Amino acid sequence: MDCMDCRSGGNETGEECGPVTITLEPPEGSRVDRTGGDCTHPVLMRAITVRPGKANSAQLEEVAEPPLSDGALLIRARALGVCGTDHEIVSGEYGWAPAGEERLVLGHESLGTVERAPDGCGFAIGDLVVGIVRRPDPVPCPACAAGEWDMCRNGRYTERGIKQRHGYGGERYRLEPEFAVKVDPALGLLGVLLEPASILAKAWDQTERIGHRTGTWRPRILLVTGAGPIGLLAALFGVQRGLEVHVLDRVSEGSKPGLVRALGAIYHAGELQSIDGLAPDIIMECTGAPSLVSAVLGRSACCGVVCLTGVSAGGGLLELDTGGLNRTMVLQNHAVFGTVNANRAHYRTAADALAKADRGWLEGLISRRVPLERWHEALERRPDDIKVVVEFA
Ligand code: BGC
Repeated sequence: MDCMDCRSGGNETGEECGPVTITLEPPEGSRVDRTGGDCTHPVLMRAITVRPGKANSAQLEEVAEPPLSDGALLIRARALGVCGTDHEIVSGEYGWAPAGEERLVLGHESLGTVERAPDGCGFAIGDLVVGIVRRPDPVPCPACAAGEWDMCRNGRYTERGIKQRHGYGGERYRLEPEFAVKVDPALGLLGVLLEPASILAKAWDQTERIGHRTGTWRPRILLVTGAGPIGLLAALFGVQRGLEVHVLDRVSEGSKPGLVRALGAIYHAGELQSIDGLAPDIIMECTGAPSLVSAVLGRSACCGVVCLTGVSAGGGLLELDTGGLNRTMVLQNHAVFGTVNANRAHYRTAADALAKADRGWLEGLISRRVPLERWHEALERRPDDIKVVVEFA
């Protein structure tokens, strides 16, 4: 049988079926299977890919159209956020390709438009959506079975663009309807902030659950360390809860101090010692910098909660007065916990928080927008960067 795409002079996405260079294996369920024909022309699209474990292997290349087995919704990418995890993957320190493949389509902070949706799936063509990052492990563990894949117990979860599943850094991708989240169309490109905001929605959910281990806990003061995208979003959530919010960062220049003040929060430039007198009920550590992580332990008010959100590189040894720290934490009922990823409920909470936030302020978080053609610039770290976003045409 002829290739349906070639006979009609183009495929379902309107692209020509010319001579092609296939740089990734056409995955199972690709265009070939859908036409039912024996032609082996997969539909191609551009995607940012990496070879996990190999530094500086990122490329913009032509890859096969996402397979139907990735989900019934076909999404046209609009924007892709870049975060510290992407930098780690690009530098070869993190990330895994899907089983049997060498390269991974990068990207987990997505925003796209629904291009195809089966009837009755809850999504319509044109909907603005974000894809959930994690998929439950196949066992599944009790947490994944309950939809809490963010708390996966056996580590066999997968993550789009990070761990064994292609990401959202291609011109098109597919999503299972249950792993797609609708975004308020009024947010437009700002919807790309939903995934990082979901990380904070979970962090706040867990912080509050832990804090309420005593029925009299009424947090008043929040300290956020780090004024990157995660820190600034942590501060936004704190302000939305009516807390007195303090943000500490190293820099005294650039847009960070202004963004913090625009929230009605207090900005501190320098070291933690500069705010010695402050007794925060909640500390959200958003840098992952080992020296700051050790400095925030034991620094909360009595019955306080310290929430660790940053992923650090291991290996550095720091001196710590473990006995003194233990004494403070025990005698003052301190809690310290780590948090990663987010489940569906957190994405919904995050969508509400973004919808309530000031648009101009959210705009300020996106410090650079880079067209797909100049994708490599998005992977460079520049001094004034907050959130860098790749824009798709
Ligand atoms: C992502 C999370 C993910 C984590 C670990 C973060 O950058 O936002 O969704 O779970 O990396 O892979």
